[in-house]
Amino acid sequence: MKEKRQFPIFNSHLDLAHQIWAKVAQPGDWAIDATCGNGHDTLFLVDHFAGVIGLDVQESALENTRKLVGEKALLFCQSHETFPPLPHPIRLVVYNLGYLPGADKSLTTQVQSTLISVRNALNLVLPGGLVSITCYPGHPEGQREEEALLKLCQTLSPADWSVSFHTWQNRLKSPSLLLIQKNY
Ligand SMILES: C[S@@+](CC[C@H](N)C(=O)[O-])C[C@H]1O[C@@H](n2cnc3c(N)ncnc32)[C@H](O)[C@@H]1O
Repeated sequence: MKEKRQFPIFNSHLDLAHQIWAKVAQPGDWAIDATCGNGHDTLFLVDHFAGVIGLDVQESALENTRKLVGEKALLFCQSHETFPPLPHPIRLVVYNLGYLPGADKSLTTQVQSTLISVRNALNLVLPGGLVSITCYPGHPEGQREEEALLKLCQTLSPADWSVSFHTWQNRLKSPSLLLIQKNY
C-alpha cells in the first residue's frame, strides 16, 4: 500500500490561510467569512475570533454552516457585495471563491460582484488586519477573478497595504492565495 505523505508545514492553500488567520487574530477581534459554503472556514474562524459574521447566497450552504457552528456565528443569506450592519470593527475578511464542490456550478462567485465586495472589505478592515482570498484559476470565471484581483492589488499603495500572492509552482491549475494586509 502507498504510504501517506507528510507535509512539514502545509499541504494546501487552506492550511496556509488558516495559519495566517490565526496569527492575525487579537483578543476580542471579529472576522467575516464572505463565502461560507459548507462552513469549514467559518468553523475555524469561530474557534479563533470573538465574533464571526458569515455570508452566502445559498440557504443550503448556510444550513450546512449552521450545523457546524451553531449559534457561534451571525449568518446572512445575501451576496457579499454589501455587508450587513456590523456590530463590531473587523480585523479579517476571508473569501474562498468559486462554487461548492458537488453543488450547482452556476452559483459560483462572479468577477464583478467579487471586486465590489473586496473593495468594500478593504474599506472596513482594521489597521493590522487582512483580506484573504483563495482563487480557483482552474475554471474560467475563477481565472477572470484572479486576474482582476491582481490588477486591483497593483493600484494599492505600498505605504498603506502589503500584498502577497501564493501559488504552487509544481501543481497544475491549483488554487492560489492572495493576502492583502492593511499596514498599521
Ligand atoms: C468554494 S465555496 C466556499 C467554501 C467554504 N469556505 C467552506 O469552507 O466550505 C464558495 C461559496 O461562495 C458562495 N457564493 C457565490 N457567490 C456569492 C456571493 N455573491 N456572495 C456570497 N457568497 C457567494 C457559493 O454559494 C459557495 O457556497
